[in-house]
Amino acid sequence: MSSPSNSVLRTKPVEDVLAQADDAGTEAGGEVTHLRRRLGAVDLMGFGIGIVIGTGIFTLTGIEAKNHAGPGVVFSFAIAGLVSLLAALCYAEMAAAVPTAGSAYTYAYATIGEVFAWIIGWDLILEFALGAAVVARGWSGYMQELFGLPTGLFGEKAPVNVGAVAIVLVLGVVAIIGIRESARVTNALVAVKVAICVFVIVAGAFFVKAANLTPFVPPSRPVAANTSGLKQPLSQAVFGIEPTAFGFAGVLTAAAVVFFAYTGFEAVANLGEETRKPSRDLPLGLLGTLGICTVLYIGVSLVITGMVPFSQLNEGAPIASAFESVGAGWAAKLISVAAVAGLTSVILVDIVAMGRIGFSMGRDRLLPPAVAKIHPRWGTPYRITMGTIVLVALLAALVPLKALADLVSIGTLFAFVVVSLAVPILRRTRPDMKRPFRVPFNPVIPVLSALACLYLMTNLSLETWSRFLVWMLVGFLVYFLYGRRNARLAQRD
Ligand code: ALA
Repeated sequence: MSSPSNSVLRTKPVEDVLAQADDAGTEAGGEVTHLRRRLGAVDLMGFGIGIVIGTGIFTLTGIEAKNHAGPGVVFSFAIAGLVSLLAALCYAEMAAAVPTAGSAYTYAYATIGEVFAWIIGWDLILEFALGAAVVARGWSGYMQELFGLPTGLFGEKAPVNVGAVAIVLVLGVVAIIGIRESARVTNALVAVKVAICVFVIVAGAFFVKAANLTPFVPPSRPVAANTSGLKQPLSQAVFGIEPTAFGFAGVLTAAAVVFFAYTGFEAVANLGEETRKPSRDLPLGLLGTLGICTVLYIGVSLVITGMVPFSQLNEGAPIASAFESVGAGWAAKLISVAAVAGLTSVILVDIVAMGRIGFSMGRDRLLPPAVAKIHPRWGTPYRITMGTIVLVALLAALVPLKALADLVSIGTLFAFVVVSLAVPILRRTRPDMKRPFRVPFNPVIPVLSALACLYLMTNLSLETWSRFLVWMLVGFLVYFLYGRRNARLAQRD
């Protein structure tokens, strides 16, 4: 399947992608245009868990159990984990076959065509930049509460959220100095948060009361009609499906929300160019991350809903307050410290991933090539990373981002749909390609994955959809004004 060279659907040969990612990726002037291979499977899982476990499990468990699913939130986590697993299988096939820093962006470039690749890259920048900014503000709020810091500088009440900016800048420096340094910091933070999740499961199990878990899925009841206008989910606006509380429908509604807790694992695929044995380690990194997080999420949500009747769960800090309510205040403090560690690593990995995507787009000249320059000593794409840090710091300083968190989910789901579809397309167009990992039952699993992600997208509000579409329109404008003409593929012809 080849498109005319001036078409917006032109594709980049997989061989070019592989050559760029390897030692052959050196420009005529001798400038290095590939990243250095320094990571193994454990580092990848560290990055994966680093970005996945964050605000989701520490807050959404309470909100969703209380309002939509009761203890059935455990099923919601399992369902969202399953949807993520389908997408992760597709990511694993693509990442092992085409290990590159651009992940979904590059897979789309090699399969569906340039304009789609651009849009995915643009979408991922949104996902990771907003993700980092949202979480930096969350971090600042937690620090303010934990240490009683001044509200004028930390937390949502600060006119300029200095705490959020500070953490973005510090982690930005770590991300620029090196991938190995970033891996070390991430691994340490991950150890803290995984240990706390295990602690919550083991210690919490002693306080579980069977009565709190019965009935496991409370009977469904109508919700007060508080969703109208732009706040209503797309599924309600288009298909007239009213959101329901509790019952099986409530479990599904909650699954769409807690999906946020799984977002980020795909960032592992962005480290394809920095992985020593990509064909083995990328599938391990992606699936290992997801497996560990799913088990921890199911364990934590089961224990928390077993400790406290679901209608009494705290919405802001459900895990810490569950321990407080059984008289273990010291454990609550410990959990807050883990939450801060958790949030810190999410920000760091978001910054690392964003740099890799921008770098890939610059290398393909869909963005000015100067942004893709690699630092001679640190081996990182320092310019694009610096640029994105400034963007994230500005967002984190000034914009109350709570409402925009759903944008992270919609952006992620959109990328999952594209990656899922890329698998069967590439199997048809390039059956000969070496695929160290293969999704079983192709095309059933990739198509199921795409449909499941689309379904979750319909549960997001019209407001989120409209913001997403505006960002995409701006992306199209940039592409037609700059990328289309300057792309490496256009120059070559
Ligand atoms: N999955 C990440 C979190 O839950 C973004 O915070």
